[in-house]
Amino acid sequence: GRVAVFMGGDSAEREVSLKSGKAVLAALLSAGVDAFAVDVQGCLLRTVENPDFDRVFIALHGRGGEDGTIQAILSQAGIPYTGSEVLASALAMDKLRTKYVFEGCGLPTPRFRTMADVRDAALIVSELKTPLSVKPSREGSSIGIRKVHTADELAEAYEEAAALDSLVLVEEWIEGPEFTVSLLQDRALPAIGLSTDHVFYDYHAKYLADDTRYRIPCGLAPDDELRLQQLALDAFRVVGCRTWGRVDIMQDADGQFWLLEVNTVPGMTDHSLVPMSAKAAGISFEELVVRILRDTLE
Ligand code: DAL
Ligand code: MG
Repeated sequence: GRVAVFMGGDSAEREVSLKSGKAVLAALLSAGVDAFAVDVQGCLLRTVENPDFDRVFIALHGRGGEDGTIQAILSQAGIPYTGSEVLASALAMDKLRTKYVFEGCGLPTPRFRTMADVRDAALIVSELKTPLSVKPSREGSSIGIRKVHTADELAEAYEEAAALDSLVLVEEWIEGPEFTVSLLQDRALPAIGLSTDHVFYDYHAKYLADDTRYRIPCGLAPDDELRLQQLALDAFRVVGCRTWGRVDIMQDADGQFWLLEVNTVPGMTDHSLVPMSAKAAGISFEELVVRILRDTLE
């Protein structure tokens, strides 16, 4: 049947999604799949009115496309789609509530507070160890994330994050290194180690800088990489993800790993991490995309 690649969308990650979607579409076409692009804007319900496709590859990032909304609409319409289903998508989009699940399952995640008022800054700084990371709970690509050292900085970063999401997460900063583990069909792919001259692996380092360094092999001893991969797989499973995803993890100075979040529609641009990990496992971009699509048939 015909495959629609859903891309674009109205989230803050629209530009990233258009790149992901175009790369996915090109790979599907080169694999001989009958596929076309759908730029999903405005009312999501319209996408399932008289559809001229019978499967969807979801290449949407952020709210609306990665958070369970489009997944629910496609489920209701009986149209198979790639990746995680409604609950896992909604949960993974929300970093704060994902951390509740990690904690509930005994998985390590940096200590945190939710922040609902700028006047909570002093209390939070006294309760957590600085520096801190301030994040809009339901954003992607590091949009709105700030590193802060003082209550004043926290108050300022809070206002910025709160403008993007009513739910703001404050967590203890782990200096890193940062790692990311891609999951494909319930298997962890080789981990990637990330380093940047920026304060952290932010939007600029992710998509614009050419001085971001990706280590693959990741630089850990084999036993440690196995531990890291197992932790990523545990995170993927407790959130309830399907087929593919990517888990972001920090390592502290003592070698301990800390889960940050799970991404259910990770980037698929030419700067992106899942394709890099797949390649290291001998899986071409084309094969990766076809495998993700094939799982919708099961
Ligand atoms: N949210 C971006 C697309 C990622 O996780 O890769
Ligand atoms: Mg994310």
